[in-house]
Amino acid sequence: MTMTTTAGRLDDAELQRHFDDRITHDQRIEPRDWMPEGYRRTLVRQIAQHAHSEIIGMQPEGNWLGRAPSLRRKAILLAKVQDEAGHGLYLYSAAETLGADRAELTDKLITRQQKYSSIFNYPTLTFADIGVIGWLVDGAAICNQVPLCRSSFGPYARAMVRICKEESFHQRQGYELLMTMVRGTAEQREMVQDATNRWWWPSLMMFGPPDGDSPNTQQSMAWRIKRHTNDELRQRFVDMTVPQAEALGVTLPDPALRWNQEREHYDFGEPDWSELKRVISGDGPCNAERLARRRAAHEEGQWVRDAAAAHAAKRAAREEVMR
Ligand SMILES: [Fe+2]
Ligand SMILES: [Fe+2]
Repeated sequence: MTMTTTAGRLDDAELQRHFDDRITHDQRIEPRDWMPEGYRRTLVRQIAQHAHSEIIGMQPEGNWLGRAPSLRRKAILLAKVQDEAGHGLYLYSAAETLGADRAELTDKLITRQQKYSSIFNYPTLTFADIGVIGWLVDGAAICNQVPLCRSSFGPYARAMVRICKEESFHQRQGYELLMTMVRGTAEQREMVQDATNRWWWPSLMMFGPPDGDSPNTQQSMAWRIKRHTNDELRQRFVDMTVPQAEALGVTLPDPALRWNQEREHYDFGEPDWSELKRVISGDGPCNAERLARRRAAHEEGQWVRDAAAAHAAKRAAREEVMR
């Protein structure tokens, strides 16, 4: 795409140079700026995938809304699940600034042309899962998302600032729930340990495949969409989480986990990457259920979209008459 300015027609090479220069100087790219097609495509894919994850991510926790053990727990969980809906909306809006059509993105999600995070394809078996999701899943999301606040694309970076503030509330509500449970009965402590065992490895997989197996990372880092590799972020998450597990009195299900004095990081075992591939390709424990639920919600919402469109058309017609 070429753009004209008052100075005359800039050729693609000049536009590219200007774009590269802004990236190098850590200046933000805004929606009306020229950008390479690959940059736009990569961002639309990443932001859409992120938005879909927020929306699908409401399901595993929504599963416990009707069965929360107290009014207080229900109110907290409800607020958290609603936040995730809001995150989805900010992100779809950010994708729209790149020319993506939101209806089309939803369509791509429910027809499996676009993905969402593998983590939401695991079931929530007990109320301890709600705590562990806040602690580990939102904790991993924070590790991933804090650097995105400095992402080179302005609308994405700004959306992430707001989202990260809410994510830290999510992480804390989860941790506080677990702290309460481990101070309770032996059975409650067992529930926490069991949920930790089930969510630990899937949480590590949230950072994506190992760097050697992540072909898009280098380009995304050159464009400063991403700031750290998958493995760097995974390490950061492990280092942050181990002391929290100790404070809770739960063990993490990894015999290879130990402090490495030389590296000044924790060593840890290799996640089962074949499981990640399976879950991403649609064959996880809850993939079919999650998509079916999303599709049904979309279809049930058709009348709302029709009504909103009819209302907008009526209003536009009235304004036309008044002009
Ligand atoms: Fe979120
Ligand atoms: Fe969250």
